[in-house]
Amino acid sequence: MNSSRTLALGMLLVGACHSGSPVPTPVHGATDVGTPTALATDGSYVPAADRVGAVFPAAWRHKAGRVPVFGAHAMVASDAPLGSAAGVEILKRGGNAVDAAVAVGFAIAVAYPEAGNIGGGGYMVIHLADGRVAALDYREMAPLAATRDMYLDANGNLTDRSVVGPTASGVPGAVAGLTAALAKYGTMSLAEVMIPAIRYAEDGFIVDSALANSFRSNAKLIAEFRGSAVFLPNGAPLAAGTRLKQPALARTLRAIAARGRSAFYEGAIAEAWTSELRGAGGIITMADLAAYQPVWREPVRSTYRGYSLLTMPPSSSGGVTITETLNILEGYASLPAYGSAGWAHVLGSAYQRAFVDRNEKLADPAFVKVPIAQLTDKAYAARLRATIGSMRATPTSTLNTAIRDGMETTHYSVVDDKGNAVATTTTLNNLYGSGVYVASAGFFLNDEMDDFAAQPGKPNMFGLVQGEANAIQPGKRMLSAMSPTIVLDREGALLLVVGSRGGPRIITSTSEVILNVLDYRMTLADAMSAPRVHHQALPDSLYFERDAITPAVADSLRAMGYGVAMGRGIGLVNAIMRVRGGFEGVSDPRSAGKPIGY
Ligand code: GLY
Repeated sequence: MNSSRTLALGMLLVGACHSGSPVPTPVHGATDVGTPTALATDGSYVPAADRVGAVFPAAWRHKAGRVPVFGAHAMVASDAPLGSAAGVEILKRGGNAVDAAVAVGFAIAVAYPEAGNIGGGGYMVIHLADGRVAALDYREMAPLAATRDMYLDANGNLTDRSVVGPTASGVPGAVAGLTAALAKYGTMSLAEVMIPAIRYAEDGFIVDSALANSFRSNAKLIAEFRGSAVFLPNGAPLAAGTRLKQPALARTLRAIAARGRSAFYEGAIAEAWTSELRGAGGIITMADLAAYQPVWREPVRSTYRGYSLLTMPPSSSGGVTITETLNILEGYASLPAYGSAGWAHVLGSAYQRAFVDRNEKLADPAFVKVPIAQLTDKAYAARLRATIGSMRATPTSTLNTAIRDGMETTHYSVVDDKGNAVATTTTLNNLYGSGVYVASAGFFLNDEMDDFAAQPGKPNMFGLVQGEANAIQPGKRMLSAMSPTIVLDREGALLLVVGSRGGPRIITSTSEVILNVLDYRMTLADAMSAPRVHHQALPDSLYFERDAITPAVADSLRAMGYGVAMGRGIGLVNAIMRVRGGFEGVSDPRSAGKPIGY
């Protein structure tokens, strides 16, 4: 598509879609993203001059104009207030952003057991103030005894054993990953950065209402595999206001603090937890633990309207899919009015095309040749953009409206007073993972095996239909959507640290916060509160949060040929943005997360 055609299409979409839609006008060309934010003398929030006030549909449950947390020096934003507090504690003791991120990782394993973990894995993107960048893959691996069809029954039908119970887990990578990050880029000892986590586990902490709700909603799963004694004592979920102590986890953490990764992957603790798991029918062995290694990778680097992105390469699909989507969108001179049918059409169509590639072509690069250069190429994106009709849906191929809510995983962002930044996303997959609580060592095991294509061509828990490239093989990493991302401004200075939870919706929620800041010039708080749109190719429908679009916009989309699905949240983002004089931190209003800055 040539540029005048692109411009004309962009204007057509903007013009065509205003009626009945919230319309903060996009402003382009400004280079002062991240400039001042202030509190007026009466404490009210005064957004930066370059920010455009957002308008959301009247029925939308989150309001525009939230006040962010401001820190003149540093910021930690996570889904768990005690996680953020642990990071800030380490920063104030003189640690850098990597020290703090590792502290948060271990702290949320204690204080946010639904997704924080030592029994799962994750990804970390690092941008240091001296210009060094790194990406760490500590994704789980399929056990050596895993087989391609291990989750099919005798009739060839997919069972739920990739989601629940002792066979659902990949070999955990969290302890190996966090310790590797600290060893390479940290400044403190493991014992120092683990002080908050060990304190939370040993002395306990007061359960807040969000955590109590989480225990209540997931009580059946927690009770199924030995978690009751800790989280449902006397048969009832721990209530808000009670103290939660985790002595078994405290012993494991103390051992890790003293002996490093070997305490988790070798020796008595490892023997105990793997034999406990195998006693329940699991297949992870000591040989699996001995073979586990995190991998340092080159971040995916891309540009969007002059800004630079550093994000996560495969084995996560996140960085490539975000890059491909943004490359498609960059060809529009401006994006359609926010919240309009054109906005949903253009963003949805870009995601749809990027997810078709994601679902077929991306996988663990140790097993499959992954065409990263082609998928992140701007000329390739232009060819995809040319297939987007002006106001017409493109069918992916089959229709399947069964999309499951993904409410798992957790992301945290850290910036220190030197400007070092770390974006980390970590997961057990489902909330509380496979449900299997290893009582001897005090942690939940993941159900990450479901991120493989357990039956290529058939939907997984997230409704994702993935191909052969992501089929199960022993020792392979299952494809992820986790997208820890760092955005630099046009001068190359740190601008945003961002990432999300939400299965495939990690990709859409992370990239939409970026688009809301860069294209729609929203404040970071509005960018996070704003309604989101998701398309993952199959099911072939646009997916929105309830009340995220007006009835008129929904009608327009149906008239354009879209299936329109409504459901629960799309992502939980934790982001930090540089502003004049410091950093703003914002946790998603959909979560009970909390940024802490100073
Ligand atoms: N378990 C979700 C993901 O890695 O994408």
